[in-house]
Amino acid sequence: MTRKVTKAIFPVAGLGTRFLPATKSIPKEIMTLVDRPLIQYAIDEARAAGITEFIFVTSRGKGALEDYFDHAHELESNLKKAGKTELLETLRSTNMESGAIAYIRQHKALGLGHAVWCARRLVADEPFAVILTDDVIMGEPPCLQQMIEAYNETGGSMVATMEVPTEKTKSYGVLDIAEDMGAIVRAKGMVEKPQSILRRTSR
Ligand code: UTP
Repeated sequence: MTRKVTKAIFPVAGLGTRFLPATKSIPKEIMTLVDRPLIQYAIDEARAAGITEFIFVTSRGKGALEDYFDHAHELESNLKKAGKTELLETLRSTNMESGAIAYIRQHKALGLGHAVWCARRLVADEPFAVILTDDVIMGEPPCLQQMIEAYNETGGSMVATMEVPTEKTKSYGVLDIAEDMGAIVRAKGMVEKPQSILRRTSR
């Protein structure tokens, strides 16, 4: 039987060079998509999947991201006094329970794998999710929830993927598929940005 997944790591210590110049002073995770900062989509997705412990791997210049989860008491009481209940609810959805959120520093941007490794002591030997906040995945049920449901049945390590045209596989990490069961496939390997590809099934 698999153990319940309650922890999620959010690696947010990258340099964000593709969003320069904005990311010179703003963490990309705070940038807004439609009506919410990217980080809020990630938190909402994690909560919907039953995550209760949120581990952020941060770096220098990510202070705004830490402040984002603080309770803004003055703002809350102003909105309450003004009867702006809808805005108050929106604001409250950004609040985190005390002790539910942890920050750990990645001192050097040594890559995504290293960022996840930095959280190893907080995760200990428990199963955990990793959410990349700069990749918003729209899904119903949300992607992480689908993954955890699948994990509860199959166990093992999982990665969410998308199909890409064969001519674009050289820009992606591509799975080497052992068994195709439809929505879920069993992978026997992964190739980073392959220059050529033998089969059409690329995910
Ligand atoms: P990206 O590959 O998107 O890198 O990282 P990046 O630095 O954010 O952006 P670009 O490529 O320079 O524009 C994927 C995720 O891994 C995190 C990033 O913050 C992002 O959420 N990451 C990446 C780290 O936490 N540490 C790293 O050393 C590298």
